[in-house]
Amino acid sequence: MVEAVDIKIEKIAESKLLEMSLENLPFGRFFTDHMLEADYINGEWTNVIIRPYQALSFDPALSVLHYGQSIFEGIKAYKSEEGDAYIFRPYDNLIRFNTSAERMCMPTVPEELFIDGMRQLIEIDKDWIPNKKEHSLYIRPFMFSTDAFLGVRPSDTYKFMIILSPSGPYFAAPMKILVEENFTRAAPGGVGFSKNAGNYGGSLIAARLANKMGYDQVLWTDAFEHKWLQEVGMMNVVFIINGVAVTPSLEEGTILKGVTRDSVLTLLKKRGFKVEERKISIDELVAEYKAGKVQEVFGTGTAATIAPIKELKYKDNIMQFDTTTWTIAPAIKQDMDNIKSCKVADEFGWMYQV
Ligand code: COI
Repeated sequence: MVEAVDIKIEKIAESKLLEMSLENLPFGRFFTDHMLEADYINGEWTNVIIRPYQALSFDPALSVLHYGQSIFEGIKAYKSEEGDAYIFRPYDNLIRFNTSAERMCMPTVPEELFIDGMRQLIEIDKDWIPNKKEHSLYIRPFMFSTDAFLGVRPSDTYKFMIILSPSGPYFAAPMKILVEENFTRAAPGGVGFSKNAGNYGGSLIAARLANKMGYDQVLWTDAFEHKWLQEVGMMNVVFIINGVAVTPSLEEGTILKGVTRDSVLTLLKKRGFKVEERKISIDELVAEYKAGKVQEVFGTGTAATIAPIKELKYKDNIMQFDTTTWTIAPAIKQDMDNIKSCKVADEFGWMYQV
């Protein structure tokens, strides 16, 4: 059991929940009544406070604005039918957060602050957890450098925060994806495995050009040959080929170690599917598609959970899928939803009760 952390608590006078409904929510647009904040000063985390959600003020020389030491996580909380609040796999996100922190020369955040801070914040704002299908309370922990200094070096001070957003689905419909042949998201030795803000900023132009061509996102390929598949938009990707689940391996450090990716692979194995984490090229995928072997393709991520892909375009090859006939992705999604809503036993120990 994680130690309770001593947090100063300032509560809002009147909840904003009185003015809004938790039905049919967009993703990431609304925020709960409170937020958590902590400062890293003189080598330790201090000033831990939960206070009303509000704007921050900062020095224009704030180092994160100039040199980008900024990392984040995405986690979800759900309510069981009995009304108890649960967080899905927060310890896995804590590990990934601290891996990102180390890569970006930032301090790590102790378990007491990350997990127990999140627990206390959600306890206070638990009425904001939506009950509706495909809805959840999206949890966004993040950290950024706060020295007011223009020299290029790791900052001495940082701010850690957690904000909460009651949200609906990220993608409402199956996606059309363009295989990216020009831009690069990550190369070995880079920061592709870390969840730092710059990875997302750097990806926007490719997504924007894909949007102009009628596609929702890109499927990233490797930096050298633009041939080896990496991840899709801001999600991991899984291909069901001839009954086998194939997904790019984590070895090169160019893709994110997705918590949903791991959950999906675990559930696929439990259902008896063979899972291969390995290199997969676009040429292999096209050949398997032409042979009629590619059954399902989907993205996996916290925000999007399992996002079906109905079309993939690579050069002149348009690979189309009738997602309405799929059985595997919907079954795995149902398995995951059953665990998240506590309808089935949590045999993997994924649910953390608030
Ligand atoms: C998540 O799936 O939680 C992500 O981080 C994707 C996001 C940038 C919305």
